[in-house]
Amino acid sequence: METYKFQVIMNMKIAAIAATLLLAVVIPAQSALAEGDATAGKELAYTCLGCHGIEGYRNAYPSYRVPKLGGQKAGYLVIALKGYRDGTRAHPTMEAQATSLSDQEIEDIAAYLASIGGDTVARGGSDAPGIAAATACAACHGDNGISVNALWPTLAGQHESYLERALGQYRDGTRGDVVMSAQAALIAVEDVALLARYFASLEGLETTKPD
Ligand code: HEC
Ligand code: HEC
Repeated sequence: METYKFQVIMNMKIAAIAATLLLAVVIPAQSALAEGDATAGKELAYTCLGCHGIEGYRNAYPSYRVPKLGGQKAGYLVIALKGYRDGTRAHPTMEAQATSLSDQEIEDIAAYLASIGGDTVARGGSDAPGIAAATACAACHGDNGISVNALWPTLAGQHESYLERALGQYRDGTRGDVVMSAQAALIAVEDVALLARYFASLEGLETTKPD
């Protein structure tokens, strides 16, 4: 019996060490790629603003606001766009938008969009009274909803209906991610809407308006 318990604890430790090693290997390898040309990206992103640059624009069926991209983390934008392009993240319109983009164009667009974030994003957010349910998110999405890592998305200021939609998708498995799916499964059902409203209320991401 004791031996069995010891074995279980050892297995858990090994799993934890393996996860840490995996992160250590994956993170520098991916962030090294994120070298885009923001000027080229601005040209490329012009058509995107037909949806992302319009205040109040919604996805139809189901109805939710088109996500804000201004000030979003470059590495995360690259992962999202490649996800749509390569079919690991499903959304008909975005798949169509991303299919024709090369890796370099994706890097350029990401560099441009990430550069739009204002002072609040640069400062790491503005202090706001937190909510208990959000403390579990801070390790990755930051104390103020401004992500601490280029590969993880900023949530601060994102549209409430989009955040709620994304959390629902991780929970029902229509959107998958090794890290976030596990996190989303731990959220109490009554906290999903609360978390979406909270992160949406923080200062951060911006709607990218065409100029
Ligand atoms: C016809 C409207 C439309 C156009 C045009 C469009 N998008 Fe989108 N985009 C959406 C919608 C709707 C979503 C949310 C999809 C989902 O739920 O996964 C989205 C999601 C995204 C996301 C994921 C955001 C996140 O927080 O995960 C990125 C990145 C993105 N779009 C970038 C672009 C880029 C770059 C272009 C131009 C090449 C573009 N979009 C053009 C409607 C559009
Ligand atoms: C261990 C790190 C980690 C923790 C803790 C974590 N997340 Fe995430 N989260 C991620 C990663 C990584 C992604 C991007 C996954 C992907 O590409 O789909 C993500 C994505 C998201 C998205 C989608 C954003 C978008 O723009 O589409 C939402 C919403 C979200 N997280 C909410 C939360 C909430 C709420 C909590 C706390 C209850 C939380 N996360 C805790 C790592 C984390």
